[in-house]
Amino acid sequence: MAMELESPATTLLVVVGLLIHLAGSSPPPTPVVCARGTSDCTVTNAYGSFPDRATCRAASVTYPSTEEELVAAVAAAAAAGRKVKVATRYSHSLPKLACPGGRDGTIISTLWLNSMVRLDAAARLITVESGVLLRDMLRAAASAGLALPHSPYWSGVTIGGLLATGAHGSSLWGKGGAVHEYVVGLRIVTPAPASRGFAVVRELGDGHQDLAAAKVSLGVLGVVSQVTLALQPLFKRSLTFLERDDSDLEDQVAAWGGLHEFGDLAWQPGRGKVVYRQDDRVDVSSLGNGLNDHPTLRSRAAFGRVDARRAEELLEENGTDIARCEAAAAGQLQPQPPHGFTNDGEVFTGYPVVGYQHRMQATGTCIDSREDGLLTSCKWDPRLGATFIYNTAISVPLRNAAAFVADVKRLRDLNPRTFCSLDARGGLLARYIRASSAYLGKPEDAVDFDITYYRSYTAGAPRAHADVIDELEQMALHKYGGFPHWGKNRNFAFDGAVGRYPKAGEFLEVKGRYDPDGLFSSEWSDQVLGINGTSPSVDKEGCAMEGLCVCSDDLQCAPERGYLCRPGKVYREARVCSSSFQPAAGALRDEL
Ligand SMILES: Cc1cc2nc3c(=O)[nH]c(=O)nc-3n(C[C@H](O)[C@H](O)[C@H](O)COP(=O)(O)OP(=O)(O)OC[C@H]3O[C@@H](n4cnc5c(N)ncnc54)[C@H](O)[C@@H]3O)c2cc1C
Ligand SMILES: *[C@@H]1O[C@H](CO)[C@@H](O)[C@H](O)[C@H]1NC(C)=O
Ligand SMILES: *[C@@H]1O[C@H](CO)[C@@H](O)[C@H](O)[C@H]1NC(C)=O
Repeated sequence: MAMELESPATTLLVVVGLLIHLAGSSPPPTPVVCARGTSDCTVTNAYGSFPDRATCRAASVTYPSTEEELVAAVAAAAAAGRKVKVATRYSHSLPKLACPGGRDGTIISTLWLNSMVRLDAAARLITVESGVLLRDMLRAAASAGLALPHSPYWSGVTIGGLLATGAHGSSLWGKGGAVHEYVVGLRIVTPAPASRGFAVVRELGDGHQDLAAAKVSLGVLGVVSQVTLALQPLFKRSLTFLERDDSDLEDQVAAWGGLHEFGDLAWQPGRGKVVYRQDDRVDVSSLGNGLNDHPTLRSRAAFGRVDARRAEELLEENGTDIARCEAAAAGQLQPQPPHGFTNDGEVFTGYPVVGYQHRMQATGTCIDSREDGLLTSCKWDPRLGATFIYNTAISVPLRNAAAFVADVKRLRDLNPRTFCSLDARGGLLARYIRASSAYLGKPEDAVDFDITYYRSYTAGAPRAHADVIDELEQMALHKYGGFPHWGKNRNFAFDGAVGRYPKAGEFLEVKGRYDPDGLFSSEWSDQVLGINGTSPSVDKEGCAMEGLCVCSDDLQCAPERGYLCRPGKVYREARVCSSSFQPAAGALRDEL
């Protein structure tokens, strides 16, 4: 490039050229960082922080790129009696699932276990290594004229990781919205006695009983090497977002999933609005080349984001309701349909948006591009110090969804302003999942309610109306028998959750056979699985301020700042940290 910089005009051109050159995104950071080569490592998640803010250490990491290398890695750990966990390319789960137990635990990363193994177009089957990104698998399937009917909406996850946590899209039709329903085989490497070389590959074909354990395994059975998924002929979808008021949401919340194959809904209780996603399969010959490029999952420019975060911190920690609601209404955060969908990959010209399944079902452009020194990145990239959030997802049995909605409305009616900040982040996203054959899949048809909300960088810092969110979560879990998403949520949500899975015993039986010495167990996974009667709740001062426990005592809140442990306002059995307790007349009436 000629570098003549005399005139301001050329200077400008060079600067613009540079900016264009730098545009693109910084891919997310690696979750495993080692002080020396592949030893003395720390492990984290894509947010750079687990719910308990603990730092997780591993003595070493290995990066197998073939199944043989994977077997050798598991064998080495088993021979040494070392604890093991699997980490993935980016590790997008919130909880501490990827932390190995013990003091000399090791990590096996699936970063380079990322090949497509087989695509059988006639049988409509795809086999991939477990570290393959959802994005890449969907593209490979589509290039052979095939589609996975359901997936998470975020394509930056790996097949092994998304299966381990039971990740899903939204559907009540057919086998439903969870990816594990479409698994018809997998290969998993487990520890073995010395006589068998310390590790074996177990091939679980369609109909093998143990598939029900291995499909959704929380990573505690061994390392999934390859997965085979049943696909469908590529189809198109036709999508329209409809905004309505929430007056009949009790009637709609379960019904909507029956009406539309890919339906979901986003409820903003404070605004009294629901955005229904009317989304159905249409013939592949239908016109349209729609594309999903959801703004949340797009590359974000860093410029101004840290300042915006500081403003949010002030609002959430020290602001007034009026200021928060005004900020929400001013709308920087307010999600707006069509949520980044375009009719042709370029512009949105109107509903319906019709497009191929693989272009509509998931997105994640923020992981796509090269390093640019953090000028742009995924919204939540921890290196930026901007977005920092909690993400709760709880599946409420379908039969209870209307009653749950009615209770949230009562909570809202006490003071709609308490929902402004939640609404500004999209409110409650409701998605459908069908009863699963997986032992740790949802035991019955359910509506998954997903919320994202402010998290402070300071442990124990009060958040505006944290009590309302805590009550809502406790209600979903304990009043309505909800199931926490294994890859999201804060510690307290998992307390006792495994007891609500009728097949948990079958899962533990398989665990005992596959990993008798508990090499793939950690303190966290034992707590979540209720092994030895341990609990994922952390009992310490201020624990309830962070969602690490449900308070039973004021010291678990922040009494010095006026936050005391109080009953919920609608669900009186809830225990929440509150600075402003006024008994609600309606709630008391219902109690009596
Ligand atoms: C922006 C964003 C959007 C999301 N959207 C959705 C959504 O729409 N729907 C949804 O359901 N979830 C969603 N999630 C959650 C996400 O799908 C899950 O957390 C998923 O598990 C992450 O996959 P991962 O590949 O990052 O796995 P990780 O988080 O790295 O791993 C998850 C667990 O699986 C284990 N594991 C990984 N690979 C293997 C293997 N090969 N063998 C054995 N164990 C293994 C790990 O040890 C760990 O225990 C979202 C998360 C984010 C950050
Ligand atoms: C809120 O106010 C408290 C007490 O004055 C202060 O310690 C805290 O830093 C403030 N929070 C923010 C985000 O400014
Ligand atoms: C659980 O109990 C077994 C047997 O008593 C013990 O070996 C193991 O270390 C315990 N695990 C934890 C996490 O306490």
